[in-house]
Order: sequence, then structure tokens, then C-alpha cells
Amino acid sequence: MKNSIEIKNLTKEYKELKAVDNLSLEVHEGEILGLLGPNGSGKSTTINCILSLLNFTKGSIKILNKEMNPNAYDIKKEIGVVFQEVAVFEELNVYDNIDYFCGLYIKNKKTRKQYIEDALSLVGLENYKKFYPKQLSGGLLRRLNIACGVAHKPKIIFLDEPTVAVDPQSRNNILDGIEKLRENGATIIYTTHYMEEVEIICDRVIILDKGKIIASGTTDELKLLAEIEEKVTVEVIDLGEKYIEEIKQMKHVDQVTYHNNNLLITYKKGKNNLLTLMDYLKLKKIKYNKIYSERPTLNDVFLYLTGKELRD
Ligand SMILES: Nc1ncnc2c1ncn2[C@@H]1O[C@H](COP(=O)(O)OP(=O)(O)O)[C@@H](O)[C@H]1O
Ligand SMILES: [Mg+2]
Repeated sequence: MKNSIEIKNLTKEYKELKAVDNLSLEVHEGEILGLLGPNGSGKSTTINCILSLLNFTKGSIKILNKEMNPNAYDIKKEIGVVFQEVAVFEELNVYDNIDYFCGLYIKNKKTRKQYIEDALSLVGLENYKKFYPKQLSGGLLRRLNIACGVAHKPKIIFLDEPTVAVDPQSRNNILDGIEKLRENGATIIYTTHYMEEVEIICDRVIILDKGKIIASGTTDELKLLAEIEEKVTVEVIDLGEKYIEEIKQMKHVDQVTYHNNNLLITYKKGKNNLLTLMDYLKLKKIKYNKIYSERPTLNDVFLYLTGKELRD
């Protein structure tokens, strides 16, 4: 497997604070790597160090097998970046914004025209070419920001929380677009604090907390770390304490909580947990509205590893 990026022992300090703490990672060619972590965990700082936009305290960064540095323009031209903060020109319309950013890399006019059309179609802005940024909704503006960052068809693409505060339609469009970029051969580094997105699009995930990698692997591999087989939720009104105690004693049951008429049971392992529970409820004539089983989420993994929730 070829690596597009190799980072060794990266540390970035702000006075006392280690924003990035001895971080080593590889990004494989052609994958979508997710950097998942709560706000302040060091995602943006990591990206800005990789891009040589920030000086760092310690560590080495190789991109496409070459040492990265602020003047490494041969590497930089292979990279596309979509920053966390939208950065487009207010005085240029959608088409001209993309044209400007693409034009920094693609000088041939005919090629560039095609690339701009490709970028417009990637993010679904074909019908907004003449719109100015001010006239776009938050979601459409994000999509323009992405088009500007990737129009030159770079080999490596960084997207820093591109779906924060966008409507669901734009969010889906953005996630689809990222998968298309990968299909077209790009290597993608994607940061987010939304674990659901990581589960949908990422081939591999690195979980960050306080500047450190606390776990990495595929979503399935990470879920094993939570040491939970499944979580069963039952919507049941006024469940008596004695039943809760009995359920706690059932086979494979790990934890039981009962809040707001929701009974939540986690199981360490075992099969047919849901059926066994339903039989029990029937036997005791306990009526319930809903009952369902779920696999652990990445939030459960985060909770297990750090003792706190990933959600903000
Ligand atoms: N310029 C700065 N000066 C001091 N501290 C900073 C600066 N930029 C970021 N930080 C701190 O570094 C940590 C990581 O920030 P950041 O990389 O932006 O996190 P994330 O992108 O995961 O939300 C945070 O605690 C943040 O407050
Ligand atoms: Mg950030």
C-alpha cells in the first residue's frame, strides 16, 4: 500500500497547551481518512501543520514521498484545501470564484473551463453560476467553498469540517461529492466531529482527543473497542424498580439505565438478547411502545475510551 502522507511525532505547542501531541499517522493513497474529534481536539491544527501553514514544535511531514516545507510548491500544487472558515470573494460570482482558484493552478483556458464545469456539477451548483456569495444559503456557500478548493483536481484533498451548520440536503450533496472525488482517484483527509458522517464515508478513522490519537482503524475495528455487542432500547412507561433489577441479572447484560420512560440495556456479547428480553417482557405482561437493538456507535467508543461524549 502506498502512502500519500506520512507524519511522524508531530507536536504543536501554544505556550503550555499541546494542541497536537506527538501525533504519527499515515494516509494511504486513494482512501478517505477521517479525523474525528470534539471541538478543540486539534484537527485544524494538525491540518495546518501538514500544509506548512503553521510552524510546529517537533515532528516530520512527508507528502508524496517528499519532505513538506513552506516553499514546496511542487507538492502544494497537488493539494486541494477546503478550510473550516468559508473563504471566497464576495465581489465575484460563483463561476468567477471557481475560475479564480482553479486559475492559480490550471493555466490552459479550455482545460480550466472544463474543470470549472466539473466542479460545478460535483457540488450541484450548475444553476447558480451567476449568483454572488451573498445570495447563497449557508449550505450552497459551503458547496462553493468546496468547489473552489478542489476544482484543479488535486491528488490530495483536505476538508476541514465542511458540513458544519449546513442543511441536510447540502450535507448529503457534500458527502456524495467527497465520495465522487475518491472514485476519481483523490486521497482525502476529512475532519469532523459528526461520527455519523465518518461511518458513512470514511475508509479509516483516527479518533483525536486533546491533540492525541486515542484510537484508529476502520469503523468496524473501532466499534470492537467499545466492548459492547449491542444496545437495546425499550420505550416503556413507569417500569417498576423490581423489573429493572431482574433485567440487570439477565444473561450478557452489562448496564441498564431507565430515564424518561426509556430503558437502555447494553450487552457485552451473546446472541438473541433482544428475543430473550421480549420473552421476559411478555411473561411479566409489561407493555412497551417501541423496542429496538443497535450496534455500538463511534460515540460509544469515544465514551468508553475517554469517559465523555463526542457530541457537543
Ligand atoms: N492560535 C492559537 N493560539 C492558542 N491556542 C490555539 C490557537 N489555535 C488553536 N488553539 C488551541 O489548540 C487546540 C486545538 O485547536 P483546533 O486545532 O482548532 O481544534 P479542532 O479543529 O479540533 O476544533 C484548542 O485547545 C485551541 O483552543
Ligand atoms: Mg477545527
